[in-house]
Amino acid sequence: MRQIGREPVFVDRGEGCELVDVDGNRYVDWVCSWGPLILGHAEPEVVAAVAEAAARGTSYGAATEAEVELAEQVAARVPSVEMLRMTSSGTEAAMSAVRLARALTGREVVVKFAGAYHGHSDGLLAEAGSGLATLAIPASPGVPAAQTAGTVVVPWNDRDALARALAEHPVAAVVAEPLPANMGVVPAAGGFLELLRDATREAGALLVFDEVISGFRVARGGAQQLYGVEPDLTVMGKVLGGGLPAAAFGGPAAAMERIAPAGDVYQAGTLSGNPLAVAAGLATLRRLDDDAYARLAASTARLASGLREFGAGRPLQVASAPGLLTLFFSGEPVSDFAGAAACDLEAHARFCRAMLERGVYPPPSQFEAWFVSLAHDEAAIERTLAAAAESLAEVFA
Ligand SMILES: Cc1ncc(COP(=O)(O)O)c(C=O)c1O
Repeated sequence: MRQIGREPVFVDRGEGCELVDVDGNRYVDWVCSWGPLILGHAEPEVVAAVAEAAARGTSYGAATEAEVELAEQVAARVPSVEMLRMTSSGTEAAMSAVRLARALTGREVVVKFAGAYHGHSDGLLAEAGSGLATLAIPASPGVPAAQTAGTVVVPWNDRDALARALAEHPVAAVVAEPLPANMGVVPAAGGFLELLRDATREAGALLVFDEVISGFRVARGGAQQLYGVEPDLTVMGKVLGGGLPAAAFGGPAAAMERIAPAGDVYQAGTLSGNPLAVAAGLATLRRLDDDAYARLAASTARLASGLREFGAGRPLQVASAPGLLTLFFSGEPVSDFAGAAACDLEAHARFCRAMLERGVYPPPSQFEAWFVSLAHDEAAIERTLAAAAESLAEVFA
Protein backbone atom coordinates (compact mmCIF):
# COMPACT_ATOMS: atom_id res chain seq x y z
CA MET A 1 0.00 0.00 0.00
CA ARG A 2 2.99 2.30 0.48
CA GLN A 3 3.57 2.05 -3.30
CA ILE A 4 0.19 3.68 -3.86
CA GLY A 5 0.48 6.12 -0.95
CA ARG A 6 -2.28 4.70 1.22
CA GLU A 7 -2.74 3.15 4.60
CA PRO A 8 -3.14 -0.63 4.47
CA VAL A 9 -6.57 -2.21 4.70
CA PHE A 10 -6.97 -4.25 7.89
CA VAL A 11 -9.13 -7.23 7.11
CA ASP A 12 -11.87 -8.57 9.32
CA ARG A 13 -12.99 -11.40 7.03
CA GLY A 14 -13.34 -12.67 3.50
CA GLU A 15 -16.63 -13.78 1.96
CA GLY A 16 -16.60 -15.25 -1.55
CA CYS A 17 -15.06 -12.60 -3.79
CA GLU A 18 -15.23 -9.89 -1.12
CA LEU A 19 -13.05 -8.61 1.67
CA VAL A 20 -14.61 -6.89 4.66
CA ASP A 21 -12.31 -4.54 6.59
CA VAL A 22 -12.34 -3.85 10.32
CA ASP A 23 -14.54 -0.78 9.73
CA GLY A 24 -17.11 -2.84 7.85
CA ASN A 25 -16.20 -1.58 4.34
CA ARG A 26 -16.64 -4.19 1.61
CA TYR A 27 -14.29 -4.58 -1.37
CA VAL A 28 -14.39 -6.78 -4.45
CA ASP A 29 -11.09 -8.56 -3.84
CA TRP A 30 -8.84 -9.03 -6.90
CA VAL A 31 -5.86 -10.08 -4.80
CA CYS A 32 -7.37 -13.20 -3.24
CA SER A 33 -4.36 -13.74 -0.97
CA TRP A 34 -2.06 -13.35 -4.02
CA GLY A 35 -3.37 -16.41 -5.77
CA PRO A 36 -4.25 -19.37 -3.56
CA LEU A 37 -7.98 -18.57 -3.29
CA ILE A 38 -9.08 -19.69 -6.73
CA LEU A 39 -12.48 -20.65 -5.21
CA GLY A 40 -12.75 -17.37 -3.29
CA HIS A 41 -12.76 -16.75 0.47
CA ALA A 42 -14.14 -19.20 3.01
CA GLU A 43 -15.46 -21.59 0.39
CA PRO A 44 -17.70 -23.90 2.47
CA GLU A 45 -16.24 -27.16 1.10
CA VAL A 46 -12.69 -26.02 1.87
CA VAL A 47 -13.62 -24.77 5.34
CA ALA A 48 -15.38 -28.08 6.10
CA ALA A 49 -12.41 -30.13 4.86
CA VAL A 50 -10.00 -28.15 7.03
CA ALA A 51 -12.26 -28.39 10.10
CA GLU A 52 -12.67 -32.12 9.62
CA ALA A 53 -8.89 -32.59 9.24
CA ALA A 54 -8.17 -30.40 12.28
CA ALA A 55 -10.48 -32.50 14.43
CA ARG A 56 -8.26 -35.49 13.68
CA GLY A 57 -5.02 -33.73 14.60
CA THR A 58 -3.16 -30.79 13.12
CA SER A 59 0.19 -32.41 12.35
CA TYR A 60 1.74 -35.87 12.68
CA GLY A 61 5.27 -35.71 11.29
CA ALA A 62 4.41 -38.88 9.40
CA ALA A 63 2.87 -39.73 6.04
CA THR A 64 -0.88 -39.70 5.43
CA GLU A 65 -3.17 -41.19 2.81
CA ALA A 66 -4.44 -37.72 1.89
CA GLU A 67 -0.89 -36.60 1.07
CA VAL A 68 -0.60 -39.50 -1.36
CA GLU A 69 -3.97 -38.63 -2.87
CA LEU A 70 -2.85 -35.03 -3.41
CA ALA A 71 0.38 -36.20 -5.05
CA GLU A 72 -1.66 -38.46 -7.35
CA GLN A 73 -3.93 -35.56 -8.26
CA VAL A 74 -0.91 -33.44 -9.15
CA ALA A 75 0.72 -36.20 -11.21
CA ALA A 76 -2.55 -36.77 -13.09
CA ARG A 77 -2.76 -33.08 -13.98
CA VAL A 78 0.92 -32.40 -14.63
CA PRO A 79 2.44 -35.31 -16.60
CA SER A 80 6.02 -34.02 -16.18
CA VAL A 81 5.63 -34.53 -12.41
CA GLU A 82 5.84 -38.25 -11.60
CA MET A 83 6.95 -37.75 -8.03
CA LEU A 84 6.91 -34.74 -5.77
CA ARG A 85 8.10 -33.47 -2.42
CA MET A 86 5.81 -31.25 -0.41
CA THR A 87 6.97 -28.12 1.43
CA SER A 88 5.10 -25.39 3.30
CA SER A 89 5.95 -22.47 1.00
CA GLY A 90 6.84 -21.69 -2.58
CA THR A 91 10.11 -20.20 -1.33
CA GLU A 92 11.20 -23.55 0.10
CA ALA A 93 10.03 -25.46 -2.96
CA ALA A 94 11.97 -23.23 -5.39
CA MET A 95 15.07 -23.28 -3.19
CA SER A 96 14.97 -27.07 -2.93
CA ALA A 97 14.35 -27.54 -6.67
CA VAL A 98 17.51 -25.51 -7.33
CA ARG A 99 19.45 -27.66 -4.85
CA LEU A 100 18.25 -30.79 -6.64
CA ALA A 101 19.12 -29.33 -10.07
CA ARG A 102 22.65 -28.55 -8.84
CA ALA A 103 23.05 -32.06 -7.47
CA LEU A 104 21.73 -33.67 -10.65
CA THR A 105 24.00 -31.67 -12.97
CA GLY A 106 27.06 -31.25 -10.74
CA ARG A 107 26.99 -27.57 -11.71
CA GLU A 108 26.29 -24.46 -9.66
CA VAL A 109 25.16 -21.54 -11.81
CA VAL A 110 21.44 -20.76 -11.96
CA VAL A 111 19.88 -18.50 -14.59
CA LYS A 112 16.79 -16.52 -13.68
CA PHE A 113 14.91 -13.72 -15.42
CA ALA A 114 14.76 -10.07 -14.40
CA GLY A 115 11.40 -9.32 -12.77
CA ALA A 116 10.71 -12.98 -11.97
CA TYR A 117 10.20 -13.93 -8.32
CA HIS A 118 10.93 -17.35 -6.94
CA GLY A 119 10.55 -16.65 -3.23
CA HIS A 120 13.01 -15.09 -0.85
CA SER A 121 15.85 -17.59 -0.56
CA ASP A 122 19.20 -15.78 -0.75
CA GLY A 123 20.41 -17.16 -4.09
CA LEU A 124 17.19 -16.32 -5.89
CA LEU A 125 16.86 -12.84 -4.39
CA ALA A 126 19.23 -11.58 -7.06
CA GLU A 127 19.13 -8.83 -9.64
CA ALA A 128 21.11 -8.19 -12.79
CA GLY A 129 24.67 -6.94 -12.42
CA SER A 130 26.15 -4.32 -14.72
CA GLY A 131 26.46 -6.36 -17.91
CA LEU A 132 24.36 -8.75 -19.93
CA ALA A 133 24.61 -12.33 -18.66
CA THR A 134 27.00 -11.43 -15.83
CA LEU A 135 26.73 -12.79 -12.31
CA ALA A 136 23.98 -11.20 -10.26
CA ILE A 137 24.06 -8.90 -7.24
CA PRO A 138 21.91 -9.11 -4.08
CA ALA A 139 18.40 -7.68 -4.48
CA SER A 140 18.09 -7.01 -0.75
CA PRO A 141 20.28 -5.84 2.11
CA GLY A 142 21.24 -8.89 4.14
CA VAL A 143 21.77 -11.15 1.16
CA PRO A 144 25.52 -11.93 0.97
CA ALA A 145 27.10 -11.25 -2.43
CA ALA A 146 28.55 -14.76 -2.26
CA GLN A 147 24.99 -16.14 -2.26
CA THR A 148 23.97 -14.42 -5.49
CA ALA A 149 27.34 -15.03 -7.19
CA GLY A 150 25.95 -18.32 -8.48
CA THR A 151 22.97 -16.63 -10.17
CA VAL A 152 22.85 -15.01 -13.62
CA VAL A 153 19.91 -12.69 -14.34
CA VAL A 154 18.83 -12.16 -17.95
CA PRO A 155 15.95 -10.11 -19.40
CA TRP A 156 12.74 -12.06 -20.06
CA ASN A 157 12.08 -12.77 -23.75
CA ASP A 158 15.73 -11.96 -24.64
CA ARG A 159 17.01 -14.82 -26.80
CA ASP A 160 20.55 -13.49 -27.16
CA ALA A 161 21.04 -12.89 -23.44
CA LEU A 162 19.82 -16.41 -22.69
CA ALA A 163 22.17 -17.91 -25.29
CA ARG A 164 25.09 -15.94 -23.83
CA ALA A 165 24.33 -17.00 -20.28
CA LEU A 166 24.22 -20.65 -21.33
CA ALA A 167 27.41 -20.34 -23.40
CA GLU A 168 29.44 -18.44 -20.81
CA HIS A 169 28.52 -20.30 -17.60
CA PRO A 170 28.24 -23.93 -16.51
CA VAL A 171 24.50 -23.65 -15.88
CA ALA A 172 22.76 -26.14 -13.61
CA ALA A 173 19.27 -24.78 -14.22
CA VAL A 174 17.29 -22.08 -15.91
CA VAL A 175 14.47 -21.16 -13.53
CA ALA A 176 11.51 -19.43 -15.15
CA GLU A 177 7.90 -18.59 -14.49
CA PRO A 178 6.44 -19.99 -17.73
CA LEU A 179 3.83 -17.27 -17.42
CA PRO A 180 5.56 -14.48 -15.50
CA ALA A 181 3.20 -12.65 -13.15
CA ASN A 182 5.58 -10.99 -10.69
CA MET A 183 6.35 -8.01 -12.95
CA GLY A 184 2.70 -7.94 -13.89
CA VAL A 185 1.54 -10.54 -16.39
CA VAL A 186 4.12 -10.77 -19.18
CA PRO A 187 3.58 -13.87 -21.33
CA ALA A 188 6.48 -15.34 -23.28
CA ALA A 189 6.98 -13.99 -26.78
CA GLY A 190 6.19 -16.52 -29.51
CA GLY A 191 8.68 -19.39 -29.42
CA PHE A 192 10.53 -18.23 -26.28
CA LEU A 193 9.36 -21.12 -24.07
CA GLU A 194 10.29 -23.60 -26.81
CA LEU A 195 13.70 -21.92 -27.02
CA LEU A 196 14.11 -22.30 -23.25
CA ARG A 197 13.38 -26.01 -23.61
CA ASP A 198 15.74 -26.58 -26.55
CA ALA A 199 18.58 -24.36 -25.33
CA THR A 200 18.69 -25.86 -21.82
CA ARG A 201 18.68 -29.38 -23.24
CA GLU A 202 21.51 -28.50 -25.60
CA ALA A 203 23.53 -26.91 -22.80
CA GLY A 204 23.03 -29.84 -20.41
CA ALA A 205 21.13 -27.59 -18.00
CA LEU A 206 17.77 -28.38 -16.42
CA LEU A 207 14.67 -26.32 -17.10
CA VAL A 208 12.76 -25.53 -13.91
CA PHE A 209 9.30 -24.04 -14.30
CA ASP A 210 8.11 -22.08 -11.29
CA GLU A 211 4.35 -22.56 -11.51
CA VAL A 212 3.61 -21.26 -8.02
CA ILE A 213 1.22 -18.74 -9.58
CA SER A 214 0.31 -20.37 -12.90
CA GLY A 215 -0.05 -23.94 -11.60
CA PHE A 216 -3.64 -25.25 -11.41
CA ARG A 217 -4.77 -21.73 -12.36
CA VAL A 218 -4.24 -21.04 -16.06
CA ALA A 219 -5.19 -24.63 -16.97
CA ARG A 220 -5.65 -28.01 -15.23
CA GLY A 221 -1.96 -28.74 -15.74
CA GLY A 222 -0.73 -25.15 -15.45
CA ALA A 223 1.21 -23.09 -17.98
CA GLN A 224 3.14 -26.13 -19.17
CA GLN A 225 -0.15 -27.58 -20.40
CA LEU A 226 -1.43 -24.24 -21.74
CA TYR A 227 1.71 -23.69 -23.82
CA GLY A 228 2.72 -27.33 -24.44
CA VAL A 229 6.28 -27.07 -23.12
CA GLU A 230 7.48 -29.55 -20.47
CA PRO A 231 10.17 -28.64 -17.95
CA ASP A 232 12.51 -31.03 -16.12
CA LEU A 233 11.34 -29.88 -12.68
CA THR A 234 8.24 -27.98 -11.60
CA VAL A 235 7.70 -25.78 -8.55
CA MET A 236 4.11 -25.45 -7.29
CA GLY A 237 2.30 -23.63 -4.47
CA LYS A 238 -0.60 -21.23 -3.88
CA VAL A 239 -3.68 -23.03 -5.39
CA LEU A 240 -2.09 -26.36 -4.38
CA GLY A 241 -2.70 -25.47 -0.73
CA GLY A 242 -6.15 -23.94 -1.25
CA GLY A 243 -5.34 -21.01 1.06
CA LEU A 244 -3.31 -22.97 3.61
CA PRO A 245 0.49 -23.34 3.56
CA ALA A 246 1.37 -26.03 1.04
CA ALA A 247 3.76 -26.07 -1.88
CA ALA A 248 5.77 -28.73 -3.71
CA PHE A 249 8.40 -29.44 -6.30
CA GLY A 250 8.47 -32.44 -8.55
CA GLY A 251 9.65 -34.11 -11.71
CA PRO A 252 10.58 -37.54 -13.07
CA ALA A 253 10.85 -40.24 -10.39
CA ALA A 254 14.51 -40.88 -11.24
CA ALA A 255 15.35 -37.25 -10.48
CA MET A 256 13.16 -36.97 -7.38
CA GLU A 257 14.62 -40.14 -5.87
CA ARG A 258 17.82 -38.16 -5.29
CA ILE A 259 15.92 -36.31 -2.50
CA ALA A 260 16.56 -37.54 1.07
CA PRO A 261 15.78 -39.88 2.67
CA ALA A 262 15.60 -42.04 -0.51
CA GLY A 263 18.59 -40.17 -1.93
CA ASP A 264 21.47 -37.98 -0.85
CA VAL A 265 20.11 -34.45 -1.47
CA TYR A 266 18.99 -33.08 1.88
CA GLN A 267 15.53 -31.58 2.18
CA ALA A 268 13.07 -31.58 5.06
CA GLY A 269 10.35 -29.56 6.82
CA THR A 270 8.48 -30.08 10.10
CA LEU A 271 5.07 -29.13 8.65
CA SER A 272 5.57 -30.33 5.05
CA GLY A 273 2.48 -32.15 3.83
CA ASN A 274 0.55 -30.76 6.79
CA PRO A 275 -2.85 -32.49 6.99
CA LEU A 276 -4.88 -29.26 7.14
CA ALA A 277 -3.10 -27.81 4.11
CA VAL A 278 -3.43 -31.09 2.23
CA ALA A 279 -7.17 -31.18 3.02
CA ALA A 280 -7.63 -27.62 1.74
CA GLY A 281 -5.60 -28.40 -1.39
CA LEU A 282 -7.56 -31.57 -2.15
CA ALA A 283 -10.91 -29.84 -1.58
CA THR A 284 -9.79 -27.07 -3.95
CA LEU A 285 -8.41 -29.31 -6.70
CA ARG A 286 -11.56 -31.46 -6.62
CA ARG A 287 -13.57 -28.43 -7.71
CA LEU A 288 -11.19 -27.53 -10.54
CA ASP A 289 -12.64 -29.49 -13.44
CA ASP A 290 -12.82 -28.50 -17.10
CA ASP A 291 -16.03 -26.56 -16.51
CA ALA A 292 -14.39 -24.55 -13.71
CA TYR A 293 -11.44 -23.62 -15.95
CA ALA A 294 -13.82 -22.59 -18.73
CA ARG A 295 -15.71 -20.34 -16.30
CA LEU A 296 -12.50 -18.84 -14.91
CA ALA A 297 -11.25 -18.09 -18.43
CA ALA A 298 -14.60 -16.55 -19.39
CA SER A 299 -14.65 -14.28 -16.31
CA THR A 300 -11.08 -13.16 -16.98
CA ALA A 301 -11.89 -12.47 -20.64
CA ARG A 302 -14.98 -10.47 -19.65
CA LEU A 303 -12.99 -8.34 -17.18
CA ALA A 304 -10.07 -7.92 -19.61
CA SER A 305 -12.23 -6.90 -22.54
CA GLY A 306 -14.14 -4.39 -20.40
CA LEU A 307 -10.89 -2.83 -19.21
CA ARG A 308 -9.48 -2.88 -22.76
CA GLU A 309 -12.44 -0.80 -23.94
CA PHE A 310 -11.52 1.90 -21.42
CA GLY A 311 -7.92 1.72 -22.66
CA ALA A 312 -8.77 2.78 -26.20
CA GLY A 313 -6.87 5.99 -26.93
CA ARG A 314 -5.19 5.96 -23.52
CA PRO A 315 -1.74 4.74 -22.43
CA LEU A 316 -3.12 1.50 -20.98
CA GLN A 317 -2.28 -2.13 -21.77
CA VAL A 318 -4.31 -5.07 -20.51
CA ALA A 319 -2.23 -8.25 -20.35
CA SER A 320 -4.16 -11.37 -19.43
CA ALA A 321 -4.13 -15.14 -19.24
CA PRO A 322 -6.89 -17.35 -17.82
CA GLY A 323 -7.30 -16.35 -14.16
CA LEU A 324 -4.71 -13.55 -14.31
CA LEU A 325 -4.61 -9.99 -15.53
CA THR A 326 -2.50 -6.83 -15.32
CA LEU A 327 -3.43 -3.30 -16.26
CA PHE A 328 -0.16 -1.65 -17.32
CA PHE A 329 -0.12 2.14 -17.40
CA SER A 330 2.00 2.22 -20.53
CA GLY A 331 1.62 3.34 -24.12
CA GLU A 332 3.53 0.25 -25.28
CA PRO A 333 2.90 -3.46 -24.79
CA VAL A 334 5.10 -4.76 -21.96
CA SER A 335 7.42 -7.66 -22.82
CA ASP A 336 10.01 -7.54 -20.03
CA PHE A 337 10.83 -6.02 -16.65
CA ALA A 338 12.31 -2.86 -18.20
CA GLY A 339 8.96 -2.29 -19.92
CA ALA A 340 7.05 -2.85 -16.68
CA ALA A 341 9.41 -0.54 -14.77
CA ALA A 342 8.85 2.19 -17.39
CA CYS A 343 5.10 2.29 -16.67
CA ASP A 344 3.53 5.41 -15.18
CA LEU A 345 3.60 4.26 -11.56
CA GLU A 346 1.98 7.47 -10.29
CA ALA A 347 -1.01 6.97 -12.61
CA HIS A 348 -1.25 3.35 -11.44
CA ALA A 349 -1.17 4.48 -7.81
CA ARG A 350 -3.92 7.06 -8.42
CA PHE A 351 -6.01 4.39 -10.14
CA CYS A 352 -5.64 1.99 -7.20
CA ARG A 353 -6.56 4.64 -4.66
CA ALA A 354 -9.63 5.60 -6.72
CA MET A 355 -10.69 1.93 -7.00
CA LEU A 356 -10.32 1.34 -3.26
CA GLU A 357 -12.49 4.39 -2.58
CA ARG A 358 -15.14 2.75 -4.77
CA GLY A 359 -15.00 -0.58 -2.96
CA VAL A 360 -12.75 -2.48 -5.35
CA TYR A 361 -9.40 -3.88 -4.20
CA PRO A 362 -6.91 -4.29 -7.05
CA PRO A 363 -3.33 -5.44 -6.33
CA PRO A 364 -1.71 -2.22 -5.07
CA SER A 365 1.40 -2.62 -7.24
CA GLN A 366 2.05 -2.25 -10.96
CA PHE A 367 4.23 -5.37 -10.71
CA GLU A 368 1.55 -7.83 -9.65
CA ALA A 369 -1.37 -9.67 -11.19
CA TRP A 370 -5.09 -9.43 -10.53
CA PHE A 371 -6.18 -12.90 -9.37
CA VAL A 372 -9.56 -13.92 -10.75
CA SER A 373 -11.45 -16.55 -8.76
CA LEU A 374 -14.50 -18.69 -9.39
CA ALA A 375 -16.29 -16.58 -6.77
CA HIS A 376 -16.06 -13.48 -8.99
CA ASP A 377 -19.52 -13.45 -10.54
CA GLU A 378 -21.01 -11.18 -13.17
CA ALA A 379 -22.14 -8.66 -10.51
CA ALA A 380 -18.58 -8.37 -9.15
CA ILE A 381 -17.17 -7.86 -12.63
CA GLU A 382 -19.81 -5.23 -13.41
CA ARG A 383 -19.11 -3.43 -10.15
CA THR A 384 -15.39 -3.49 -10.96
CA LEU A 385 -15.83 -2.19 -14.49
CA ALA A 386 -18.10 0.63 -13.29
CA ALA A 387 -15.49 1.63 -10.69
CA ALA A 388 -12.71 1.36 -13.29
CA ALA A 389 -14.57 3.63 -15.74
CA GLU A 390 -14.82 6.36 -13.09
CA SER A 391 -11.33 5.79 -11.70
CA LEU A 392 -9.68 5.92 -15.13
CA ALA A 393 -11.64 9.06 -16.03
CA GLU A 394 -10.23 10.62 -12.86
CA VAL A 395 -6.65 9.47 -13.60
CA PHE A 396 -6.68 10.68 -17.21
CA ALA A 397 -8.69 13.87 -16.56
C1 LIG B 1 6.29 -17.50 -8.95
C2 LIG B 1 6.50 -17.55 -7.46
N1 LIG B 1 7.40 -18.40 -6.97
C3 LIG B 1 7.61 -18.50 -5.64
C4 LIG B 1 6.91 -17.73 -4.75
C5 LIG B 1 7.17 -17.86 -3.28
O1 LIG B 1 6.10 -18.51 -2.67
P1 LIG B 1 5.79 -18.30 -1.10
O2 LIG B 1 5.32 -16.90 -0.93
O3 LIG B 1 4.75 -19.35 -0.82
O4 LIG B 1 7.07 -18.57 -0.38
C6 LIG B 1 5.96 -16.83 -5.22
C7 LIG B 1 5.21 -15.97 -4.29
O5 LIG B 1 4.49 -15.09 -4.65
C8 LIG B 1 5.75 -16.74 -6.62
O6 LIG B 1 4.87 -15.87 -7.13
